[in-house]
Amino acid sequence: MSKKALIFGITGQDGSYLAEFLIKKKYQVHGVKRRTSTPNTSRIDHIFDSVNFKNKYLVLHHGDLSDVGSLNRIINDVNPDEIYNLAAQSHVKISFQIPEYTSDVNALGTLRLLEIIRHYKKKKIKFYQASSSEMFGKSKPPQNEKTLFQPRSVYAISKVFAYHSVIHYRDAYGLYACNGILFNHESPRRGVNFVTKKIVQGLVRIKQGKQKMLILGNLYSRRDWGHANDYVESMWKILQQKKANDFVIATKTSNSVKDFINICAKKLNIKLIWKNKGLKEIAINKLTNKTIIKVDQKYFRETEVDNLIGDFSKARRLLKWKPKFSFDKLIDDMINNELND
Ligand code: NAP
Ligand code: GDD
Repeated sequence: MSKKALIFGITGQDGSYLAEFLIKKKYQVHGVKRRTSTPNTSRIDHIFDSVNFKNKYLVLHHGDLSDVGSLNRIINDVNPDEIYNLAAQSHVKISFQIPEYTSDVNALGTLRLLEIIRHYKKKKIKFYQASSSEMFGKSKPPQNEKTLFQPRSVYAISKVFAYHSVIHYRDAYGLYACNGILFNHESPRRGVNFVTKKIVQGLVRIKQGKQKMLILGNLYSRRDWGHANDYVESMWKILQQKKANDFVIATKTSNSVKDFINICAKKLNIKLIWKNKGLKEIAINKLTNKTIIKVDQKYFRETEVDNLIGDFSKARRLLKWKPKFSFDKLIDDMINNELND
């Protein structure tokens, strides 16, 4: 009999890649989607048969991390071997605007799942939690599993709560529950209000004459950017270990937002001339002499995470995992996809 996986957050970037990955591994995949007024399944629609809108390896259920009854019902109906909790209010900047909701879903939502699994009698369910490098906050790079958490947003605080809940349920009740502490990972399916997708989409549209200006926030923060397709493999590997454990997943390289822009512009043959500093900083398209990039205070965060570089040597050693996509190949994939859209 094939194993059953239940993915919370299947309609998101990672959920869609993980569903594809697990179906290839012959899992029966169940996913939880929220009720929305417009369809939210565009990242997974291609997995279904386009005529009957069915796939015997993929089943969707309506539910929400803020509704414990729905979580109970779905887990009991599915009776999964593995649960992947990827559902979250995942936008750091937006967590400054909706802190209570962010905490309810990301922190308490995780606790609700752990409580159900703790009392579940039918089988021992393995649990994966989508923890985040954002938890390291102010701690200097490179960051690894032993680095202090110094969160800089309610998003990060909610993820620290969930992280410790996972370890507590493992220690106190013997749950097979693991944290994947994933550094930033992107893809053509990245949400449009995350910086990499915003830059790629914006520069491609400017090149095509469909957009005049790209307006951004802090150009000098640095991130360790990998590809989501590589990172979902690590989630599965984490749940296949003999003992439950926590792992940093990253590429150990870091680039600034400005580096990301400059590489994209070069690949699109746009020559940029940077001028001024701070909120007056702009980039001019050398060919047209027009300003195409500006900075606006509204995209800055009240508190920023300046530099993330993940030391993933534990994952390399125990999971035999390493990233396949380089930074350059990630950007190529995102640009090519945008050009063909
Ligand atoms: P994403 O694209 O924003 O996807 C988030 C998913 O969670 C979506 O399916 C969303 O549903 C769902 N969701 C949101 N609120 C929910 C709720 N109340 N109940 C049930 N589902 C809910 O995020 P992602 O980039 O795939 O990231 C996946 C997970 O990894 C998140 O927990 C994120 O915080 C964490 N993480 C991400 C990164 C990264 O760089 N991508 C790094 C570290 C950790 P809708 O489609 O309906 O909105
Ligand atoms: N979103 C956004 N929009 N970010 C901008 C912009 C802009 O216009 N301009 C500059 N930035 C900067 C942000 O200030 C941040 O320093 C960096 O670009 C990356 O921002 P995001 O792409 O929004 O990602 P994030 O690092 O805040 O959070 C992502 O990675 C975390 C892991 O470290 C999300 O995927 C989180 O869910 C994830 O946990």
